[in-house]
Amino acid sequence: MPAPGAPSTGVGAPPRHVAIIMDGNGRWAKARGLERTAGHREGVAAARRAVEAARDLGVAYLTLYSFSTENWRRPAGEVRDLMGLLKQFIVDDLPRLKEEGVKVRIIGDKENLSADVKALVRRAERETEKNTKYNLQIAFNYGGRDELVRAARAAAEAVKRGDIDAGDIDEAAFGLFLDTAGTPDPDLVIRTSGERRTSNFLNWQAAYAEYVFTDVLWPDFDATIFADAIAEYNARERRYGGVGGA
Ligand code: IPE
Ligand code: IPE
Ligand code: MG
Repeated sequence: MPAPGAPSTGVGAPPRHVAIIMDGNGRWAKARGLERTAGHREGVAAARRAVEAARDLGVAYLTLYSFSTENWRRPAGEVRDLMGLLKQFIVDDLPRLKEEGVKVRIIGDKENLSADVKALVRRAERETEKNTKYNLQIAFNYGGRDELVRAARAAAEAVKRGDIDAGDIDEAAFGLFLDTAGTPDPDLVIRTSGERRTSNFLNWQAAYAEYVFTDVLWPDFDATIFADAIAEYNARERRYGGVGGA
């Protein structure tokens, strides 16, 4: 049996899939005496840099955690700002992403987003679905537990309809019910801002990912920090429960 999330890449090669928990926008703003929303705006600029850097570093899949199912707990004004920034990002960047051959996918619970956000998200996915050069996943209204519950429900419904037998649900079959179906598991998860927790991100998919935590606040993220994280990843030995090499 292949190891879970077995790497596609050899030693020293870039990770195929990097997922990033973009954290620290609020603290970045606070340190400058600015409103949190200014930090979120700078965060979008950092996300653009990350997309460019990933491509330049040879990373084929990039997933950015931009709004969690728990982020609804924030003040209504901040939630509104974050929704607005996602919309703005799609409107401003979609033409360039299309041109550059980027396939965009939004993972998370899309049903509970407002009609205008839903429409934009669908447009971004539809207009880039044939692109193959590079893959950008945006985790929006995403929670790992929420995703697993929705997948379990969808699998149960498929069994009820008679489409599959319950006994045929193994890890691979279950993975097809997740938002990330068809996407390889992340090899590397980076979290900025010094927090060392996963905050409900890709609980299933990151089972064997390497984690790199950096104290840099997200708006300060750049290609050098990205390359440093990949270097740290490359220095590690992934064992998948085995005894390793050397
Ligand atoms: C990350 O920055 C953006 C989101 C979670 C939406 P934060 O807004 O969490 O910034 P801090 O953690 O308060 O500094
Ligand atoms: C995680 O950051 C979610 C995103 C980056 C979108 P949070 O700032 O929401 O996480 P906690 O609250 O510190 O765990
Ligand atoms: Mg935070």
